[in-house]
Amino acid sequence: MCGIVGYIGSRSATEVIIGGLQRLEYRGYDSAGIAIYDVEAGLQLRRSVGKLSNLVARVTHEPAVGTIGLGHTRWATHGGVTEANAHPHRDASGSIVVIQNGIVENYLELKSRLLEQGVPFQSQTDTEVIAHLLAYHYQREGSLAPALRQTMLELRGGNAVVAFCIHEPDRFVAARLGNAGGVVLGSAQGEHFVASDVPAILDYTRDLIFLEDRDLAVVSRDGIALSRLDGSQVARPTVTVPWDPIAAARGDYKHFMEKEIHEQPRALVDVLRGRIDHEAGRVDLEDLRLGDADLRRVERIYITACGTAWHAGLVAKFMIERLARVRVEVDYASEFRYREPVLGKDSLLLTFTQSGETVDTLAAMEQARDQGVPSVAIVNAIGSQAARVADGGPIYLHAGPEIGVASTKAFTSMLVSAYLFAVRLAQARGTMTPDQIRPHLQALVELPGKAATIIERVIPQCEELTEHYHRASNALFLGRQQNYPIALEGALKLKEISYIHAEGYPAGEMKHGPIALIDEDLPVVCIAPRDDIYPKMVSNIEQVQARHGQVIAIITDGDDFLPTRARHTLSVPPTIPLLQPVLTAIPLQIFAYTMAVRRGCDVDQPRNLAKSVTVE
Ligand code: G6P
Repeated sequence: MCGIVGYIGSRSATEVIIGGLQRLEYRGYDSAGIAIYDVEAGLQLRRSVGKLSNLVARVTHEPAVGTIGLGHTRWATHGGVTEANAHPHRDASGSIVVIQNGIVENYLELKSRLLEQGVPFQSQTDTEVIAHLLAYHYQREGSLAPALRQTMLELRGGNAVVAFCIHEPDRFVAARLGNAGGVVLGSAQGEHFVASDVPAILDYTRDLIFLEDRDLAVVSRDGIALSRLDGSQVARPTVTVPWDPIAAARGDYKHFMEKEIHEQPRALVDVLRGRIDHEAGRVDLEDLRLGDADLRRVERIYITACGTAWHAGLVAKFMIERLARVRVEVDYASEFRYREPVLGKDSLLLTFTQSGETVDTLAAMEQARDQGVPSVAIVNAIGSQAARVADGGPIYLHAGPEIGVASTKAFTSMLVSAYLFAVRLAQARGTMTPDQIRPHLQALVELPGKAATIIERVIPQCEELTEHYHRASNALFLGRQQNYPIALEGALKLKEISYIHAEGYPAGEMKHGPIALIDEDLPVVCIAPRDDIYPKMVSNIEQVQARHGQVIAIITDGDDFLPTRARHTLSVPPTIPLLQPVLTAIPLQIFAYTMAVRRGCDVDQPRNLAKSVTVE
């Protein structure tokens, strides 16, 4: 949930930047800092832990003067919540400052290389690695823009970086790699802005330029010079956003759902922030009020949720049972509350809810409390009812507001949170050692980049698919094991926004009913990544093909067999099987979205549906 704001012009940079950071407070953060430059006063760094008001108090006491500067609100990823870990970070000479949004996936590798060269580190962050690398390249290139270009090319993972160097006091440089951190630039007469999110700079300008993956911008008082990380020149359009804050928040996208699909790489970074410790091979869930002893006592977990969140719960069952070896039951919250469940004292209720206000979910939590069973809520809306009543603590998704009725980024973030919870439980119960946990953490940090690859690749493919299928009146979705809930989710997405009747089924059950529906008009979406169950999915696909169904297979990169069998394929990068649903869900969201757009439906507000269902 890191926020980035930068300014160059003639106003007080401190005021502009702190005002901008305040606009981003809703995203959540645990520390904040600014670096302001002035020829006489030099580079002034002010950082503090906790609320922005602490930084404001610090700056009141110890002003930072100047008309150029960078500011940042940090949500810890690598290293605890301390002033030393707060951004901006400096290189060893103190002449370069850097702020970053994202995760440097290869930071351990880069850090050990720098340590071997004798570079001293002040913090435990991955960001500081960027500052030192930048200094290294600055020495060779003699200029900030090419040095940042070389630095970005060494980073793995989605990252947005803004840097300033006292030897080039009339500019700062911003770059974006991947999709985990957005970068928006704002222009006004004689002044320019950079931010991670539009609201931070809307008070000053409505003329915005959005950086694309691998773009770099040199920002001065007079203008913005754009280029690519390979050094070539590039132009990006200036988008003028309306004053209407809702429309402004939608930015350049046609629908909130489209925006939220694109926000997933960043949401997946945010849900991991501060929760994984590669070096120790651990997961830490800061808000969880249950300690190791409480988690060891849990013998059975009841998951209750509604709609898309219930699908996340179904996937969570696979994760928790496999990793932590605890029995899990999953119920619709609306059923659970009336079935008089027998909850033992050794049970835990786990709920999933985007809004935290769904009435049935809240009622299930109440029932658990009445029976003395603690509950944990995996929830997006900060301070919502579910977050407040979860006595075991909320696990926040930190996905930012989700406006489109059909849930997208909250769903994939729920899956990642469920995985973190499963590993946390496994850690407490000793079913996984730090050495066993480490590869899982690596797989988690690679998810945002893989999600970005899928989004970029699959949108044009799905637009093409809609030409074949937009007149369909039915669709079938098949999957097995942890991808069976994704089949349910794919069907739900399609039906709720495009009004095509769709069913999700476990592929092995197809022969007990849905096979009767298959004919040449029926699109059958088959989720068939390369895993243990792949051969079974292949035979299900053959059965559909034999009946002339139109197979759209979701496959893993490198599978060259299914493209010879299925009518169409959409390919996703590989990951460990239990995390595959995070990736296989995305093409299905995009399929539903492009179909709904093609059919002229009201994507963000489909008929009869509500984002938050607060009535029975
Ligand atoms: C409604 C929404 C769905 C959502 C469900 C549960 O049906 O339209 O998108 O999945 O409620 O909502 P929650 O806020 O509890 O996740």
